[in-house]
Amino acid sequence: MTNQTKDPHSHFEPGHPRIKHMAWTVGFDFDAKRVLGTVHHAFDKGGHVILDTRDLEIIRVYAVDGTDIVYDLGERHPVLGSPLSFIVPDDAEVMIEYLTSPDASGIQWMSAELAGGHPFVYTQGEAINARSYIPCQDTPGVKFTLDASLEIPSELRGLVAAPDHLRVSVGRPGYSVEVWRMPYPITSYLIAFAVGELVSEDISDRSRVWSQPSMIDKAAHDFRDFPTIMLAGEELFGPYPFGRCDILVMPAAFPYGGMENPTLMFVSPSTVAGDGSGISVIVHELAHSWMGNLVTNADWASFWLNEGWTVWGEGRIMEEVYGSDVAMVSRKLLQREFDDDCEGYCRRCTPFLTKLMHGQDDVDPDDIFSRVPYHKGAQFLRRLEDTVGRRHFDVFMLEYIKAYRYQSLTAGQFIAFATKKLGAAVMKEVDAHAWVYGEGMPANDPEITSPSIVAIEEAVRSLALPDPSWSVPEQQLYLELLMRPLSHDLIAEIDAVGGFSTTLNVEVRWSFFMLALKSGYGQVLPQVEAFLLSQGRMKYLKPLYGALGSLVQGREHATRILGLARHAYHPVAISTIERELSHAA
Ligand code: BES
Ligand code: ZN
Repeated sequence: MTNQTKDPHSHFEPGHPRIKHMAWTVGFDFDAKRVLGTVHHAFDKGGHVILDTRDLEIIRVYAVDGTDIVYDLGERHPVLGSPLSFIVPDDAEVMIEYLTSPDASGIQWMSAELAGGHPFVYTQGEAINARSYIPCQDTPGVKFTLDASLEIPSELRGLVAAPDHLRVSVGRPGYSVEVWRMPYPITSYLIAFAVGELVSEDISDRSRVWSQPSMIDKAAHDFRDFPTIMLAGEELFGPYPFGRCDILVMPAAFPYGGMENPTLMFVSPSTVAGDGSGISVIVHELAHSWMGNLVTNADWASFWLNEGWTVWGEGRIMEEVYGSDVAMVSRKLLQREFDDDCEGYCRRCTPFLTKLMHGQDDVDPDDIFSRVPYHKGAQFLRRLEDTVGRRHFDVFMLEYIKAYRYQSLTAGQFIAFATKKLGAAVMKEVDAHAWVYGEGMPANDPEITSPSIVAIEEAVRSLALPDPSWSVPEQQLYLELLMRPLSHDLIAEIDAVGGFSTTLNVEVRWSFFMLALKSGYGQVLPQVEAFLLSQGRMKYLKPLYGALGSLVQGREHATRILGLARHAYHPVAISTIERELSHAA
């Protein structure tokens, strides 16, 4: 079964030829910050197609026999980019040679100085940025297999999100060619590479950790539970569907906590905390292997299927491996982020953005990224789970994966599937309509509590100082639940007891800085400034810049720091921060 609905974020038209396989050759010009690519697309048939591109310079479109194919590169749309149209010949094969722009929204180039010794470059496709590094049908409704070969300076490694590393061969003098194969069908937003000074350490016969040399021992140690976590995932959701599963620890500029690139998840170095607290991100990205990479949202309005199911799955693995108390604390932390997002949307008079489903035509999905699809999506699934019982829900979940594996579906198709399998009465009982189409949280939002949460809530209510026996997520939850203006004496005392402003744990340090800024506690400003210059993860940057911008004369200060830091930030992070500052009171 193939998806037949039109994705408003792509020029792909259902019924037109579809890409079935891509063979991609990539060269790098680190000085000019350009990728020179050639892609060989094999379609399912000949006929008229319109591919997605954004800021690509098309050099040539041609058939496999070398004859030129006439093409038209249309005007650039601010969200969609420029449509590339041509006629696919009857043999259904087309080659495109192109150059990327130094400002490609899906590529981050880091100089040797920035990346710590050697240059580093990588892609981030999700949501609609793959079109800035490969001309393609950039919609999650189309799946294809992929071959990729990267020609890179010999002292670097070139990784592709694919399980089969076929070979490294010699290229031009000083260069080598790394050849990879993804034999399972994937979608465009999962096409990814990373090139840099990278080393690896095996943690099982199907997993290894990759990172720059300075991090590798620490990372391999922190992720030592990963093989157990994979087994727990397989126990719950079925055999791991992509062969290998490796973890790549990115430079600090990486804008996300993690990205589920298939067989090679990219994670922020903030997850390598030395205290095991970063594991929930790894669990989350692993859960995407089934929820997102195997069964995929067919358009970005259905993004909550990917993230809601993944957060739900992450919770189940966490519960299995670390117990329900730990899983609940992490759920509560996500709820805090969700509450902040909802509060922001209400303040800015865009409460419709708290809906799971809303129109997104003419909006870049990256511009409305929030925890709504994550938390509300997962809570909706938990409400269903609680209503029919876990055993019954697990049967449903496995049927769902089986029905849609290696395919894509819209949220509407999911609701129809759930109604068929769980019954219309259940959908009515949980008020599925309010969950999917209503604003904010429905009244039957499942409760999030546990013995640790109750203890922390009590400490917060009585303004008690932090308890030294708390785990890192518990410390963070304490700070998050305290989040309101407090007296400067109390902030100083909390910091003296908890050591939060200087802890090596980035998450906790961030929560403390947020609390301090909300309280107008100016002593932290130099540390906040250093933090902003050393980090690229948007989860931290966006609220910190927002809080900084809301201080007296804070906007100028924040803008000055952004000026210093922007060369080290990802293009999507820069636009997110600029938008945040334009809203800061
Ligand atoms: N797929 C997302 C990252 C993403 C979403 C990138 C949308 C671009 C557009 C990834 O799986 C994710 O959800 N990361 C979270 C991790 C967290 C929930 C544990 C993040 O980075 O915050
Ligand atoms: Zn996710």
